[in-house]
Amino acid sequence: MIRVVCPGSFDPVTNGHLDIISRAAKLHDEVIVAVLRNLAKSSLFTADERIEMLREVTKEHANVRVAKFNGLIVDFCRANDVSAIVKGLRAVSDFDYEMQMAQMNYNQAGVETLFMTTNPLYAFLSSSLVKEFARYGGDVSGLVPESVLRRLTERLASE
Ligand code: PNS
Repeated sequence: MIRVVCPGSFDPVTNGHLDIISRAAKLHDEVIVAVLRNLAKSSLFTADERIEMLREVTKEHANVRVAKFNGLIVDFCRANDVSAIVKGLRAVSDFDYEMQMAQMNYNQAGVETLFMTTNPLYAFLSSSLVKEFARYGGDVSGLVPESVLRRLTERLASE
């Protein structure tokens, strides 16, 4: 049984995340999508809201489940018998930081990281840019699932 984790802050989940999650689900027995804290970022949605959105948009994948964890990703892996972390790599700009995290996690806990190349359709896409674009009236339909777009529009309107 190969269980992997797709970790992230998912604030909110984008079509780029979904692409990686669904491709990981084809390659492994089980995928846990773990909502974790990135101390470098402040969030628009609460962790529970992000989880609800993720559950909604991954419900068609029987082998994907969503979880929340406050702590180190390597502790999550240990507690959940996870074989590897799966991450999407968009561009060279992602590489330095992702490489550093992967090496830290391997060095400290022996946890492996597998990188998947992002679909070129989504190479430019990030939750931060989606939020910024939407906040100033940009059209982000096509970049996030419809249910996420609804919530994003509501949340930004109430700001
Ligand atoms: O979607 P993001 O914000 O790029 O995801 C980053 C995330 C949440 C996966 C990363 O910050 C993380 O693993 N946080 C959990 C705490 C942790 O383990 N930090 C040390 C990483 S070497």
